[in-house]
Amino acid sequence: MRKLVAVALAFASFAVLPATAQTVKERLPTCLACHGENGQSQTPNVPSLGAQQAFYVTVQLLMFRENMRVATPMNDMTRSLTDDDLKSFAAIISTLPAPQPATGPVDEARMQRARALVEQNRCNFCHKQDFAGQDNVPHIADQREDYLVKALRGYKDNSRHGYDASMADVIAPITDPQILDLAYYIARVK
Ligand code: HEC
Ligand code: HEC
Repeated sequence: MRKLVAVALAFASFAVLPATAQTVKERLPTCLACHGENGQSQTPNVPSLGAQQAFYVTVQLLMFRENMRVATPMNDMTRSLTDDDLKSFAAIISTLPAPQPATGPVDEARMQRARALVEQNRCNFCHKQDFAGQDNVPHIADQREDYLVKALRGYKDNSRHGYDASMADVIAPITDPQILDLAYYIARVK
């Protein structure tokens, strides 16, 4: 840390401070402008980042940077990041609070259908009982419903390639109405 400060001070002696001298912490507000205060997204199709698994985040940021996962804002945002930056962003993001379940009345019939699908497809085996994930398996509990639908459809139509083939295999037998039920449920787990 002391070394970083020294480097930053060295740059500061020049009139213009290059963007790269900004710490990851200083750059985080740019990310949260889209991803929401404290990583709780209020924007359709933009995922909440709070409590996301650090290793998963590092891998996804790397994939955005290398255009292995395509989403224009994220490909642009990561282009100039170093490997250390990716890890630092991931470390901070993982300490933000987890998102909260969607509010409002709950359709119990849909919840019930989704629970059966979760069981049948062993979602909890990888994403863990509380959907908090681990390592390269993402935290999905109480993620935005619209983003969950988008993510699952992406694996289904092959527009999103995972770091490994787990989700491509999982999603193959799942239909679109089932994707809608799964997203509905996962956005509301307690
Ligand atoms: C202009 C809006 C915008 C900005 C700024 C932005 N993001 Fe994103 N980010 C998105 C969108 C949209 C997605 C979802 C992409 C998709 O649908 O695949 C995303 C996805 C992600 C993901 C993947 C999450 C997951 O669950 O798979 C991570 C991690 C992430 N962003 C981190 C960051 C970081 C770190 C920054 C700042 C360096 C940042 N984002 C800045 C819009 C933005
Ligand atoms: C064999 C392990 C495994 C199983 C079973 C599994 N997943 Fe996943 N899931 C993963 C991995 C690994 C990823 C990250 C893939 C990547 O790099 O994109 C992932 C990613 C996801 C994402 C994207 C999250 C995000 O933030 O972008 C969603 C949503 C998801 N899984 C839902 C499910 C659901 C619903 C089920 C059950 C129907 C399920 N998963 C079963 C391993 C699994």
